[in-house]
Amino acid sequence: MIANRRFTLVARPQGLPCESDFRLTQEPAPTIGEGEFLVRNHYASIDPAIRGWLEPGGNYMEPVALGDAVRASTIGIVEQSNNPAFPLGQWVMGLNKIEFYSVGRADGFTHPIDVSAVPSPTAYLSVAGAVGLTAWFGVEEVMKPVAGQTLLVSGAAGAVGSLIGQLARRRGARVVGIAGGPEKCAKLTGRYHYDAAIDYRGKDADALGAAIAEACPDGVDFVYENVGGVCLDAALMNINTGALVVICGLISEYNSAPYGTRNVWQLLVKTATMRGYLLTQYLDKFPEGARAMADLVAQGAIVYDEHIEEGIDNALSSMLRLFEGSNQGKMILKLT
Ligand SMILES: NC(=O)c1ccc[n+]([C@@H]2O[C@H](COP(=O)([O-])OP(=O)(O)OC[C@H]3O[C@@H](n4cnc5c(N)ncnc54)[C@H](OP(=O)(O)O)[C@@H]3O)[C@@H](O)[C@H]2O)c1
Repeated sequence: MIANRRFTLVARPQGLPCESDFRLTQEPAPTIGEGEFLVRNHYASIDPAIRGWLEPGGNYMEPVALGDAVRASTIGIVEQSNNPAFPLGQWVMGLNKIEFYSVGRADGFTHPIDVSAVPSPTAYLSVAGAVGLTAWFGVEEVMKPVAGQTLLVSGAAGAVGSLIGQLARRRGARVVGIAGGPEKCAKLTGRYHYDAAIDYRGKDADALGAAIAEACPDGVDFVYENVGGVCLDAALMNINTGALVVICGLISEYNSAPYGTRNVWQLLVKTATMRGYLLTQYLDKFPEGARAMADLVAQGAIVYDEHIEEGIDNALSSMLRLFEGSNQGKMILKLT
C-alpha cells in the first residue's frame, strides 16, 4: 500500500492559524479513474491565499472542507497514468493539496512542465508559476506603467512584490517599495533595483503617508497593493489625479476583521480608480506569460528568490512565516 500523508484541516482558524486547526493524517494513496493520473507531489506552494480558502464562506474558490487536505499549487511527478498526455515520469503542476499523492485531471490548472527550461523545478511555483504570472499580468496588462510615472508597491520584498518592481522598472517607471525592516528595504534597492524603499514597521498611516510623500515627490500614479490596512490608507493620501490603485492582496487583514480603509475619499477628489485583480482573469494567456518570465530569467534580466522549507510537518510553520514576514522569497514546502 502506498501511504498518502496529508496536511488536513480539522477546524476553521479563528485569527492566525494554529496547530489545533490541522492534523497530519495518513491514508492509502487514491486510486485513479479513466483519464486520470496519480501525481507524487514534490513541492507545494505556500501562498497567502490559502488563508482565505480556510474561511467557511470561501472567496473566489470553494472553501477547503473540514477533514480534507489543504489546497495548494504543487509540482510533482506522474507515478501512475490513465492519460497519454501525462505519461509516467512526467513533471506536472496543478492546483492540488498539501499531500504526498494527488489525483491529476487535465483541467485549466494542470499541465505538464518542462523542468529543463528553468534553473530548478521549483521555478514553476515561483517566477515561472503563479507568482511570476501575477507580476507579469499585473504590470503588462493591468497597469502598463511608462517612463515618468511612479508606482508604489506594498509587500515589495515578497514573492510577487519583488518581481512587480523589476518589471515596472524595465518599462521605465520609477518604483518605490514598502517592506518590513531595514534588511528587506536594503534588498529592495539593492537586489530588486527599486528606486526607493520605505520601512512600514512602527509607522501609523500618517507617518507612513509622510514617508511615501518624501519618497514619491511627484506623487503616485499606480499603487500595487499586496498588504492593505495602514499601507493602503497611507498610499491613498499620495495618489495623483487619475491614479490606478490595484488590489492584488490584503495580507495584513487575512487573520483579522477588515481594517476599514479611511481614505477612500481620495479616489473621489483625485478621480482615481481602485480595482481588484485576480491572476485567474488571464488563464488563457498563461503560456505566453510563463514564456516571457522564463525568458527574462534566462537573459538575467530579473532575479527571484525562493524560501524552501522541508517536510510536510512544517506546513503550518511555513504558512505562518508569511504573516510574520520571515519568508525570504517565494515560500515553498518540499514534500519529498
Ligand atoms: N490577486 C492575485 O491573483 C494574487 C496572486 C498571488 C498573490 N496575491 C497576493 O499578493 C500578496 C503577496 O503574496 P506573496 O505570495 O508574494 O507573499 P510574500 O509577499 O512572499 O509573503 C508575504 C509578505 O507579506 C508581508 N506581510 C505579512 N503580514 C503583513 C502585515 N500585517 N503588514 C504588512 N506586511 C505584511 C510580509 O513581508 P514584510 O516582511 O515586508 O512585512 C511577508 O513576507 C498577498 O496579499 C497575496 O494574497 C494575489
